[in-house]
Amino acid sequence: MRARVVYESMFGNTAAVAEAIATGLREHAEVEVLNVVCAAELPAQPVNLLIVGGPTHAFGLSRPRTRRTAAEQSDRPIATDIGVREWLDAALPVSPGRRAAAFGTTMAKPTWLPGSAARGIGKRLRRLGYSLADQPVDFVVEDTTGPLGSGELERARVWAARLAHTELDRIMHKA
Ligand SMILES: Cc1cc2nc3c(=O)[nH]c(=O)nc-3n(C[C@H](O)[C@H](O)[C@H](O)COP(=O)(O)O)c2cc1C
Repeated sequence: MRARVVYESMFGNTAAVAEAIATGLREHAEVEVLNVVCAAELPAQPVNLLIVGGPTHAFGLSRPRTRRTAAEQSDRPIATDIGVREWLDAALPVSPGRRAAAFGTTMAKPTWLPGSAARGIGKRLRRLGYSLADQPVDFVVEDTTGPLGSGELERARVWAARLAHTELDRIMHKA
């Protein structure tokens, strides 16, 4: 089974979750992890499971404006022109039966705000024709720049291992 994780990350938290997801997937699948900037430059190769994630900005997926705001808070090089929103908006519809899942990062209480990039990504994946292997999942950061909440990387790994196991089971039973 082949899986691909595509993520966007301003301060490294969603990237760390993407790596933890890849570790979980590797229990059952061959996995590649791509920053969305790289994914946008590559031809779309079909995989058995596509997992897409990004940070929640202004109640949803980031936009060039919110990425510029993030860039002002970071010394890291941040791509402001392309994010998961733009990448998915430019993607071509897929044939029925293709599988995908969505994740995101959001802020923890007490600074909790409504909205979730994960849900927006899930909606866009479904619109492209994917069936979702699970409900979109949010992972929590303690503040805008992080760190991730305690146990979130392990939760990401376990979630992904379970997803990969279920998908592999589906493939085996179809064969
Ligand atoms: C411009 C901007 C807007 C944000 N808006 C929200 C929001 O609406 N809800 C929320 O939970 N977090 C919000 N955040 C916090 C991000 O969710 C947090 O920075 C992100 O999860 C960190 O992940 P990253 O290191 O991968 O970028 C915002 C952050 C920035 C920079």
